[in-house]
Amino acid sequence: MTPSTPPSSADLQRFLDIATEAAQAGGAVLQRYFGQLTSLEEKGRQGDLVTNADKESEAVILAAMARHLPGHAILAEESGQSADAASNDYLWAIDPLDGTTNYAHQYPFYAVSVGLLFRGQPVVAVVFAPFFQELFQAVRGLGAWRDRQPIQVSTTPSLAQSLLATGFAYDRHQTDDNNYAEFHRLTHLTQGVRRGGSAALDLAFVACGRLDGYWERGLAPWDLAAGILLVQEAGGQVSAYDQGPFELASGRVLATNGAIHPALSQALVETRPLGDPDQYRLA
Ligand code: IPD
Ligand code: CA
Ligand code: CA
Repeated sequence: MTPSTPPSSADLQRFLDIATEAAQAGGAVLQRYFGQLTSLEEKGRQGDLVTNADKESEAVILAAMARHLPGHAILAEESGQSADAASNDYLWAIDPLDGTTNYAHQYPFYAVSVGLLFRGQPVVAVVFAPFFQELFQAVRGLGAWRDRQPIQVSTTPSLAQSLLATGFAYDRHQTDDNNYAEFHRLTHLTQGVRRGGSAALDLAFVACGRLDGYWERGLAPWDLAAGILLVQEAGGQVSAYDQGPFELASGRVLATNGAIHPALSQALVETRPLGDPDQYRLA
């Protein structure tokens, strides 16, 4: 199916309902296995884990999609992309368990992330945190909600007053572009930098004002598709590190409340490799 007209508000609302049902079904699977995993494997890269819960969550989400939206293409972390992913206007980017490392350690910060892209642009977002039973939703042009109440980004005006989050990709052992220097420097320049361990939930926390900003590299479309729409629809700003246009395929994102965007961008762009002591001096 390749529709030529963009989805109407009614279409988007229907897609949101389906995404919500699917994410909550996946979340129920995660809750059932929380603390009682039956399988835990590394996927290849050091520390990149997959469990039976990731796989079963994905299976129930894909079943819901196939039942309600058989014409839509899918890009899902554990099973890959459907054959028509490149040609279909609609692509669902699905992470059935964002925060697998947390989950495997019974640390309750994890989520299901379901995002719908229309011609590459996120239009529907659901991030569901099953342990907290917290539901984040957004629709392009219509707003963002937590537990069905409208949400907005924070009004924190400066980097010095801000609380941020970031993360470290699984390839951090193989690359110098590992975010360690940025983390070190921003810890120094702000009230704190958290390493939540779930990119989708970090972005949802920016959207609802619990965090003022978030940056990370090495992410996949299924980590980002829903979360960036949450931030945008909650009034925040999403870009590349240098404030250029955000590219889903780059895996790199800067998402903030807008007010601290230029300062955080500048700090990231100007960060020098670890070992240069000048950058850690207080201004
Ligand atoms: C990971 C989480 C983590 C981020 C990693 C992601 P996963 O996803 O979002 O916060 O730092 O880069 O890969 O593997 O738990 O789905
Ligand atoms: Ca993920
Ligand atoms: Ca995952």
